[in-house]
Amino acid sequence: MKKIIIAIDGHSSCGKSTLAKALGNALGYAYISTGDMYRAVTLYFIENQVDINDSAAVLEALKQIRLHFVADENGNRIHLNGRDVSEEIRKMHVAELVSPVAVISAVRREMVRQQQAMGEQKGVVMDGRDIGTVVFPNADLKIFLTADVNVRAQRRFDELTARGQHVDFEEVKNNLAERDHIDSTRADSPLRQADDAVVIDNTNLNHEQQLELALDLVRERGR
Ligand code: DC
Repeated sequence: MKKIIIAIDGHSSCGKSTLAKALGNALGYAYISTGDMYRAVTLYFIENQVDINDSAAVLEALKQIRLHFVADENGNRIHLNGRDVSEEIRKMHVAELVSPVAVISAVRREMVRQQQAMGEQKGVVMDGRDIGTVVFPNADLKIFLTADVNVRAQRRFDELTARGQHVDFEEVKNNLAERDHIDSTRADSPLRQADDAVVIDNTNLNHEQQLELALDLVRERGR
């Protein structure tokens, strides 16, 4: 069977990673959540007090950052310079700074370079904001995932609460709206639907229904 590249883009908290992971498992493909990479860079900037307005400092910091993914039974864990930061990067202080960090072209260039290298072997499901438009413009299948903002905020609130974080619903919803705005209006690779992407609105779909829809699309592409 020929292996393909699957790109999943969409707004914050649409369930992109959940679908990407399920698809990866179903197909025996690697799956990469590129948001984790931008979050890990953001965590490094916070911990090392890198001034995001100082381009020389940003470039220097990027040279010090090594990211890699380690697969385990619960999915991919991201390591920042050898340390598992998968929990840390989901905290609100990282969420609040990640979109401004993801605006920086030098950061994007480096992340895109690493993501393209990960797709060289094909057989990969990658989720993010610019995967179908910039990272893999020739991806065999592009999915643009979307859902009602209140439903997304509730999902993220439930996820954070389940992780033991004390957060306010309005704070979570405002953060989502703010990130959607920054991600969609930035100059460098804004979030937008690729012309050849298939839109899936999952407001009223459960995980199994989304996976079935996506697998149908994969089959249509001859996999
Ligand atoms: O998918 P996520 O919510 O974990 O992503 C966190 C942030 O990273 C998101 O607000 C925008 C940025 N991002 C990006 O700019 N490009 C990507 N390919 C993935 C994420």
